[in-house]
Amino acid sequence: MAIKIFEKEKQFHLYNSKLSYVIGECRDGEVGQLYFGKRINENQIVYGYQTLAGRPLCCAVTEDENYTKELACLEYPAFGNGDFRGPAYEIRQSNGSRVTNLVYDRYQVYEGNKPIPGLPASYVNTDSEATTLEIVCVDEVAKVEVTLFYTIWEDYSIITRHASFKNIGSDEVKLTKALSCCLDFPDYEYDWIQFEGAWGRERYPHVRPVEKGIMSIESMRGHSSANFNPFVILKRKNTDEFQGEAMGINLVYSGNFAAKAEVDNYGKLRFTMGINPNWFVWPLNSGEVFDTPEVIITYTKNGLNDLSQNLHKFMNNNLVRSPYKNKPRPILLNNWEATEMEFDEEKILKIARKGKEAGVELFVLDDGWFGKRDDDYAGLGDWFVNTNKLPDGITGLAKKVNEIGLDFGLWIEPEMVNPDSDLYRAHPDWVLAAPDRRRTLGRHQMVLDYSKPEVVDNIYHQLYDVISTANISYIKWDMNRSITECFSQGVAPEYQGMVYHKYILGVYSLYERLIKDFPHILFESCASGGGRFDAGMLYYAPQAWCSDDTDGHERVKIQYGTSYGYPIASMGAHVSKSPNNQTGRSMDADDRANIACFGTFGYELDLNEVSEEEFAQVKKQIVFMKEYRGLFQYGTLYRLQSPFEKNTASWMVVSEDKKLAIVVMYKSLKTPNVGMETIRLQGLDEKLVYTVNDKEKIYGDFLMERGLGTMGSDEPWYLSDADFTSRMFILKA
Ligand code: GLA
Repeated sequence: MAIKIFEKEKQFHLYNSKLSYVIGECRDGEVGQLYFGKRINENQIVYGYQTLAGRPLCCAVTEDENYTKELACLEYPAFGNGDFRGPAYEIRQSNGSRVTNLVYDRYQVYEGNKPIPGLPASYVNTDSEATTLEIVCVDEVAKVEVTLFYTIWEDYSIITRHASFKNIGSDEVKLTKALSCCLDFPDYEYDWIQFEGAWGRERYPHVRPVEKGIMSIESMRGHSSANFNPFVILKRKNTDEFQGEAMGINLVYSGNFAAKAEVDNYGKLRFTMGINPNWFVWPLNSGEVFDTPEVIITYTKNGLNDLSQNLHKFMNNNLVRSPYKNKPRPILLNNWEATEMEFDEEKILKIARKGKEAGVELFVLDDGWFGKRDDDYAGLGDWFVNTNKLPDGITGLAKKVNEIGLDFGLWIEPEMVNPDSDLYRAHPDWVLAAPDRRRTLGRHQMVLDYSKPEVVDNIYHQLYDVISTANISYIKWDMNRSITECFSQGVAPEYQGMVYHKYILGVYSLYERLIKDFPHILFESCASGGGRFDAGMLYYAPQAWCSDDTDGHERVKIQYGTSYGYPIASMGAHVSKSPNNQTGRSMDADDRANIACFGTFGYELDLNEVSEEEFAQVKKQIVFMKEYRGLFQYGTLYRLQSPFEKNTASWMVVSEDKKLAIVVMYKSLKTPNVGMETIRLQGLDEKLVYTVNDKEKIYGDFLMERGLGTMGSDEPWYLSDADFTSRMFILKA
């Protein structure tokens, strides 16, 4: 049992070998946060949290006027009860009051964890992996019961949390805010790292010092977004990749979110995260329940690499669900950058044949195969095959691709509709659109109202008919615009605040149905590249297209930044043509591949159009990747040099037994006359001798302490005649 309970003091100490998380009842009955950090002795009863009032302008909430919430660290703070910081939840009651006060009532502890109905969440493979504490708090006036769920994981330095609201009265109440977590820290000596960007440059890490006042990131786009990822790291000022304390907070949710750090003038830091409360209203009638999404809270004392590694293993083992869980991912060839929507069956088969010759395993037909889809003005919503392009349908094409010796995969964008589509003409009320207002388009399309079950149902049946009649082993699920005019047509005013969240629940429900019907399918999520790359999506689709930007130089930054919060096996990464479609930059094929191999790996070009020399390179890359993909995708990743800081970036993967490692160094610009650069490696066995690219034999300790130079490469790097080059080193013990 990883939870020590002090019944008399009403304290609960959740612990594993790495962390301790102590909570307990405060003087007025609210649940307080007593300690979160490195594992401490579980027999310690934590005192001193009951701060004294006796300060002008502080409001005391106990009869002896000795206790003020203003100075307390709380677990799930309320609005209006003496704590003036941002609350974790708000409940509008039938009399108009929003004041609440949750008081500890009871607890239960059990092995394992429970699924959250309708939402993605981490899960146990066997009950012994985790222990869950449920704390039930009650507001006797509002007649609402809130259960706080805490799961402590045995093998990971991780706690997962969420909250659940239940109306135990007879009057309706309205939740106007229901966050997933609040973490109150006694000091604010932290930096905050957010992962920000836009289309084509997703998830760049950006460090900001935590200061007095409020800082936050959010999405109001209806999806988690490329602009701010729902993942934040709080780290101590001296923490770097290799040492120091940090916490990662990852929201398992794909819709509007908000993450906020608030520092008051007593120097306390409050961190909150969850569904964006902006324009969120959720009515709860008698007996009804609302569950918040889950947060994954990772803790380390050993630097950001350790934090990420912990998260990677956890997501691979306890979040991703798929027959491809912990399995090497197929090397795929996608036709999008080769043909866009201009193709016919013969053109597709020619590309697939060449892919087979190169050694790829899966061919993916991207956008343009359905409805009147010859350009992006039409067709979305009409999920039946365009027989002008594919006379034998998807069934026939899949069969022909299989006959070539490849698996077959298909692109869909099920949440969208073009005004020029049969679906929209039949159901103009099935889109999100506000009465008497412009229906804002994005890529000439509108967003289907997935808050309505009948809409999800229609799309489900259309897709079912395609998927069930063809041999499809992979689906790329795209989503190419944000939500505007968020209004569900024909729905009563008091329910409009539910639409954003119901939308994403609709998306999850469609995933769930398709996964149930077609459990063998490998799903890859996508949103104009990496616009919905989050832990929620990974529960359904174990890989996600990182970015539409396939330029190798850009991809180093995108994939490096993504690796802070997400595993390599989740990152869709392809080699595309040179010069690159998005940036016009030229790079050698091997340099492009050296970067894509830190991902699920594939190709996104017409291999008929590359030179013989490049085709030979591609064949070798595929042989190489087939041998080493298990290491890239599931080995321990170390970020060594950041592309955001230097001209040279490097990272490496190490096998579990430490006998095999691959290091890639990447240099943006050629610099003349720089001498030999070295990079100190990580994670090797210091006593083992490694051969580097089958040449030099070097001890692990030397490689980690002194470093790896350009030895092992065919030529010293400073003689390389190009910008945007890379070197790969294979280390075998
Ligand atoms: C999005 C995706 C691309 C491609 C196109 C097709 O932009 O990110 O990979 O599938 O849509 O329209």
